[in-house]
Amino acid sequence: MTELHTLAEQLAAEHDLPDKALHALIAGRNAEIQRYLAQRAEALRQKIYGNRIYIRGLIEFTNHCKNDCYYCGIRRSNGKAQRYRLTRADILACCEEGYRLGFRTFVLQGGEDPYFTDERLTDIVRAIRAGFPDCAITLSVGERSVQSYRALFQAGADRYLLRHETATKAHYDRLHPPAMDFERRMDCLRQLRRIGYQTGCGFMVGSPGQTDEHLVRELRFLKDFQPHMVGIGPFLPHADTPFRDQPGGTAELTLYLLSLIRLLLPEVLLPATTALGTAAGDGRERGIRAGANVVMPNLSPLSVRQKYMLYDKKIFTGEESAQCVACLAKRMASVGCEIAVSRGDSLIRTQHNDFY
Ligand code: 5AD
Repeated sequence: MTELHTLAEQLAAEHDLPDKALHALIAGRNAEIQRYLAQRAEALRQKIYGNRIYIRGLIEFTNHCKNDCYYCGIRRSNGKAQRYRLTRADILACCEEGYRLGFRTFVLQGGEDPYFTDERLTDIVRAIRAGFPDCAITLSVGERSVQSYRALFQAGADRYLLRHETATKAHYDRLHPPAMDFERRMDCLRQLRRIGYQTGCGFMVGSPGQTDEHLVRELRFLKDFQPHMVGIGPFLPHADTPFRDQPGGTAELTLYLLSLIRLLLPEVLLPATTALGTAAGDGRERGIRAGANVVMPNLSPLSVRQKYMLYDKKIFTGEESAQCVACLAKRMASVGCEIAVSRGDSLIRTQHNDFY
């Protein structure tokens, strides 16, 4: 047994490690320790969730965005992005189709689009809530006021995804323009959880300037914050952004981190993301084998799908689409899993931790 194996063993047994040990595992990673961690993470996922993979129907309903994040293809300053918005009727039609296909969670994701005022968005949430009472509604629409988060929750939203992008303020400032504020984002996450949402955070892997020390802080933040869900994926450059020439993050490191996150937070809902599936053709299956238990196929209408381009080469017409549940089921079967037709709620009871 090498020293890294001993640390991996300790992590699998105790679901935590001192920062120094996490750093050793990240900095010293190699193919063998990666296999070892993945086995442990997969076994833990199996113990907690069995072989059932939760599916979420992703509806990318607007690519208008008032923000200007340096990495993102739908940033405000990208004049080449063809902007679109789905109507309420479009969104409900996506849900209708999704329901028929077996989805019991709808994720409404979009840029920070001022058109979707609280009035418009609560109206849409209420309509989905009324039409699909046995489904979970997840929102992923960025930073909003506490009143807005509350109104959306009262309208029937159950969950909220807001990636923090990086847990290190100086690094946050490297990825975002001055108008965006690290503390404000973290505050949004705390508010969301306090209101009662099942809350998801997350970060990009291999974003420009990210170091192993940053990754240790990511893991520490996750362990402290105890989110219900964690979304991570490799940073992938987009040609019409300031980060066009930056190297992308790798599928390998993303898979490694998925395993570490499963072992740190055994019950967390952990998707194998589209970005991971873009970085490697079999990325999502390998994500499952590394400890992930959620996939989020695309339910957006085909006509708009290629316009929601956060990064180059995003997969959008093939088997990642919700319409191909059979392909997905086959892919999941190839790694010993099956798709669950259920809301797939978090097993983590919401705790109102005073510190957060
Ligand atoms: N590469 C990978 N992920 C990206 N995101 C945005 N732009 C990129 C990119 N270029 C991620 C961010 C955001 C989520 C919706 O997509 O983490 O929160």
